[in-house]
Amino acid sequence: MERTFLAIKPDGVQRGLVGEIISRFEAKGFTLVGLKFMQVSRELAEQHYGVHREKPFFAGLVEFITSGPVVAMVWEGDGVIAAARKMIGATNPLNAEPGTIRGDFGVDIGRNIIHGSDAPETATQEVSLWFKDEELVSWQSSL
Ligand code: CMP
Repeated sequence: MERTFLAIKPDGVQRGLVGEIISRFEAKGFTLVGLKFMQVSRELAEQHYGVHREKPFFAGLVEFITSGPVVAMVWEGDGVIAAARKMIGATNPLNAEPGTIRGDFGVDIGRNIIHGSDAPETATQEVSLWFKDEELVSWQSSL
């Protein structure tokens, strides 16, 4: 079953959007298989954003993601990687459609509330960067 990595960034936590965001993925029908509330180390931030190392905004990205606690999550379901990206909306919240998380709650590209893996390869990489195997729980609803 497909899995993706999502992280509610410090702005999402500080604005009290954790419950709202988790509710959207639950209501959609995806399955939460990993969840932790954590302070991100500089080392983890630099690894996570390694692909942006040469970008002018790299230092700011690392600074921001380490500035306060984040909610790191793994969600499971058919097509969850692409569906989560749709539910999150465009990188720049000003371009994100209403009804998406960034479209409904954000205005700033550097403070865009939530990160979601953009493709199957990055999802695999990010899940294993942020979570140990034993921190992930495979389960199915019996209802
Ligand atoms: P995220 O999905 O976490 O992945 C990379 C992040 O870089 C992205 O969300 C934005 O928050 C940030 N980002 C992308 N482009 C810019 C930019 N031009 N200026 C500042 N931050 C950016």
